[in-house]
Amino acid sequence: MALIMMRSVATTRRGFFKLKRSYSGIRAFSSLLTSPPSKAVVYERHGPPDAVTRVIEMEGVEVKEKDVCVKMMAAPINPSDINRIEGVYPVRPPLPAIGGYEGVGEVLSVGSAVKHLSPGDWVIPSPPSSGTWQTYIVKEESVWHKISKDSPIEYAATITVNPLTALRMLQDFVTLNSGDCIVQNGATSIVGQCIIQLARHRGIHSINIIRDRVGSDEAKEMLKRLGADEVFTESQLEVKNIKGLLTNLPEPALGFNCVGGNSASLVLKFLRHGGTMVTYGGMSKKPITISTSSFIFKDLSLRGFWLQKLMNSDKVNECRNSIDHLLCLAREGKLKYEMELVSFGDFHTALDKALGKLGSQPKQVLKF
Ligand SMILES: NC(=O)c1ccc[n+]([C@@H]2O[C@H](COP(=O)([O-])OP(=O)(O)OC[C@H]3O[C@@H](n4cnc5c(N)ncnc54)[C@H](OP(=O)(O)O)[C@@H]3O)[C@@H](O)[C@H]2O)c1
Repeated sequence: MALIMMRSVATTRRGFFKLKRSYSGIRAFSSLLTSPPSKAVVYERHGPPDAVTRVIEMEGVEVKEKDVCVKMMAAPINPSDINRIEGVYPVRPPLPAIGGYEGVGEVLSVGSAVKHLSPGDWVIPSPPSSGTWQTYIVKEESVWHKISKDSPIEYAATITVNPLTALRMLQDFVTLNSGDCIVQNGATSIVGQCIIQLARHRGIHSINIIRDRVGSDEAKEMLKRLGADEVFTESQLEVKNIKGLLTNLPEPALGFNCVGGNSASLVLKFLRHGGTMVTYGGMSKKPITISTSSFIFKDLSLRGFWLQKLMNSDKVNECRNSIDHLLCLAREGKLKYEMELVSFGDFHTALDKALGKLGSQPKQVLKF
């Protein structure tokens, strides 16, 4: 047993030295303030996440004068994290890299020039940044946004990527008023669950499309409890007059596409003349097809949304205010979504669930 442990430490050290040479976030040891050793999920090449990731131990790094050392508490596994590891996301950290993009942690120590953060504060990286799947992170003060400590950690860890996307998409494309209606596919996703609730708070109705799968009846009930007006499986929409399925709802001017393929065509069918479909995800990995007549006779518009672009613009402070608002809704129980908190030690099981290898699962959130 002792021999096996020694061998694994030796591998770990080699992994660390390799990382230390090329990963800009890791700095050399100093006799000054130093972070504790960290455990991290790293990948040295792109490929299937369950094959290329491993958990390693890394030495502590210097906490420079403008730096903050954060002890991570929780971080989710989002589809974009998987895409970054696969190497198919348009912006990827240089290799070798540490996984994860958002999360929440507690400030452990601060450099001498840090002004607005103190040990014990809770912070999230904002804009989100790579490398949240590790136990200790050292980054400059400006990276961190302080949040209220009464936030449930699973919500604090997940509040940026998906809820903020839902909030922005509901306000950035079409002016919606109380009584209006939106349509979306991928409604069981965290973005989808947030869209339903944030729309409902504004008096906006939602038509929701989910895929046919084991547990779809339970998923429908769950979405209705969140405030969904209508929930259809894709097979229920194989009818000639799709709008005939709606009873008292107005035709939607805005649709959200998380999936692509046939599911995106269903969103388009619900839209009213002049309506807009915003694509933000491609979970089926299938392209969107649209008929010529949809452009000519329905004058539909197709748009796209990318949070990373928005948050790297001059809108960071606006986004931070929106995050505080969303966290406030979560604390008040007005914004909920399904998650499973999983011990960091069970990372590979959580990853398998996030990869869909064990069927549909709630969002996996690592607890450090
Ligand atoms: N553009 C942006 O800035 C931005 C920001 C945030 C998120 N996103 C994207 O939004 C999407 C949802 O993210 P999330 O974190 O909210 O999702 P999530 O909570 O992890 O849920 C995954 C969703 O995808 C569905 N799904 C999984 N595999 C599928 C497949 N093969 N075909 C059809 N549907 C499938 C799941 O349906 P079941 O419930 O049936 O399993 C579920 O609704 C992702 O594509 C993500 O990358 C984009």
